[in-house]
Amino acid sequence: MKTWLITGTSTGLGRLLCEQLLERGDRVIATLRKQGALDDLLALHGDRLQTLTLDVTDTEAITAVVSQAFEAAERIDVIVSNAGYGLFGAAEEASPEQIERQLATNLTGSIHLIRAVLPHLRAQGGGRIVQVSSEGGQIAYPGFSLYHATKWGIEGFVESVAKEVAPFAIDFVIIEPGPTATHFAEGLDRTTPMACYEDTPAAEVRRALASGAFVVKGDAGRTVEALIHAADMTHPPLRLALGSTAYASISEALAERIRSLEEYRHVTFSADIDAKA
Ligand SMILES: NC(=O)c1ccc[n+]([C@@H]2O[C@H](COP(=O)([O-])OP(=O)(O)OC[C@H]3O[C@@H](n4cnc5c(N)ncnc54)[C@H](OP(=O)(O)O)[C@@H]3O)[C@@H](O)[C@H]2O)c1
Repeated sequence: MKTWLITGTSTGLGRLLCEQLLERGDRVIATLRKQGALDDLLALHGDRLQTLTLDVTDTEAITAVVSQAFEAAERIDVIVSNAGYGLFGAAEEASPEQIERQLATNLTGSIHLIRAVLPHLRAQGGGRIVQVSSEGGQIAYPGFSLYHATKWGIEGFVESVAKEVAPFAIDFVIIEPGPTATHFAEGLDRTTPMACYEDTPAAEVRRALASGAFVVKGDAGRTVEALIHAADMTHPPLRLALGSTAYASISEALAERIRSLEEYRHVTFSADIDAKA
């Protein structure tokens, strides 16, 4: 039986993760903003489920809730940094408040959570952190620039910290789902459209989202099954794309980056101190 600490569990992947883990007999400490959202699960599995209130934009609360969780559980095997949402609209259209909230939730919220759990994981001799990123942590759609900034940002943070804490037997799995059927689409924070963007790619994505033409192939339950499978592996990959959309988009983007790197190799090497003129 493993013990898990999960953020953002009121709906979507976070809630399904709680359900599947409780069904298989694990112990879950679920954090959420809306107390009461997991009352049905508490009624069924109250002996193995504990809920704690946490808004991940509240840095002080993160430290307090993480300490409370480790005191209650003594050992926590897997931490899942899942809480997040998308801000949609052209970068120019977003208000400073919208940008701040997006960064505070997905990026700095995840950073503070990871920093808060590390001393506890070191003290218990190790542990695993699952960061829910997105295919959008490696590729970019027009209209999601701030969301991508958070997911690319957290992936860079995690890749670096993973190297720092490997000597303490702490490891990471970055989960990168493609578009998946959860409350994500309804939960999007939207900018106020500017007329000048009407005939641009960002507006095309806006129209595709509104008309249902934006293809969502990811199954939330299967995504969570794959996340659990990865978290159970002895040696999981640092990054795991989930869903055929994520596979196709990431593979195309990586191939293009390698192609471009090679095309401009001569310019790249020309910057060395000992480069031949
Ligand atoms: N669905 C997709 O297409 C998709 C694809 C790739 C990655 N993801 C990622 O998957 C994760 C989960 O999203 P989802 O698809 O399951 O969407 P979801 O159903 O909207 O769930 C998002 C969860 O995050 C919580 N949350 C949002 N802001 C929070 C905050 N400040 N503090 C604490 N909790 C907060 C929400 O709580 P409230 O109910 O209180 O708002 C909710 O429980 C996110 O990190 C998202 O970026 C989703």
